[in-house]
Amino acid sequence: MTTVYLNGQYMEKKDAAVSPDDRGFLFGDGAYEVIRSYPGCGLFQARPHLKRLQRSIDELKIDYPSAAALLEVAENLIRDNGLTGEDAVVYLQVTRGAAKRKHAFPEKGTPATVYASASPFKGNASDQDRGTGVNLVPDIRWSRCDIKSLNLIPNVMSNQHAKDTGCGESLFVRDGMVTEGTHTNVCAVFDGRVHTHPEGNHILAGITREVVLGICKTLSIPVELLAVSSDGLKTADEVFLTGTTAEITPVVTVDGMTVGDGTPGPVTRKLQAAYMEMLL
Ligand code: PDD
Repeated sequence: MTTVYLNGQYMEKKDAAVSPDDRGFLFGDGAYEVIRSYPGCGLFQARPHLKRLQRSIDELKIDYPSAAALLEVAENLIRDNGLTGEDAVVYLQVTRGAAKRKHAFPEKGTPATVYASASPFKGNASDQDRGTGVNLVPDIRWSRCDIKSLNLIPNVMSNQHAKDTGCGESLFVRDGMVTEGTHTNVCAVFDGRVHTHPEGNHILAGITREVVLGICKTLSIPVELLAVSSDGLKTADEVFLTGTTAEITPVVTVDGMTVGDGTPGPVTRKLQAAYMEMLL
């Protein structure tokens, strides 16, 4: 039996029902978060995830001020689904609620729809160990990629393209510069310096990216908050992805061209080791 949370109540997943008028269903009008839970440390970086969820909700002008309260919900779902001490993932979603379909916001007082679930999660150990390949694709997304909105069509299409071509991820390119992956941020190493796209409206400010930049600081690895061009990425010494589910995944090919010597590089390995330490 799987227990989920919907609009203030815990219930069996098979009993959870959302109105067909829900604006998440009709318009993708909502925001979401994904949080990992580990056998050692439990929910990882939950507060930054919930802070970002509140920011997404506020930017979308959805009336739901209580994202911080979902910490308890996440903890309860992990416990009640027997996932304490397991590798798991919590999914949180808040939409603008259910109302007759029209584009403008529903009447004031329409309650947001709040859904949360917890499931077992298995990371891709082989990709993390040996590295993965990526494709470069045009960044056809809107220009508010800083909001973790439910509208994921470009991400879905581009990630399927990666899958269809035997790659682990597609990276978006906007105006010649690599922004981020479909569900990851990206870093490139040149002469021992870690380059990554600066925060702003063209990328999601990844929680894992922030953790990795913190590790760089601790380990005195220099960081450049600079976007890398699509041609430049192919000349990097190392490339890696960061994300809640990808953790730190080395990239060994870009559009079929080998990165470095085709194996995960020393900076990536050092960061992976330090990241793993944090999860104990
Ligand atoms: N995705 N960029 C995009 C577009 C993302 O969707 C994500 C996360 C990231 C990495 O952010 P973080 O380190 O906070 O997970 C970057 C989640 C995991 C998802 O959609 O499943």
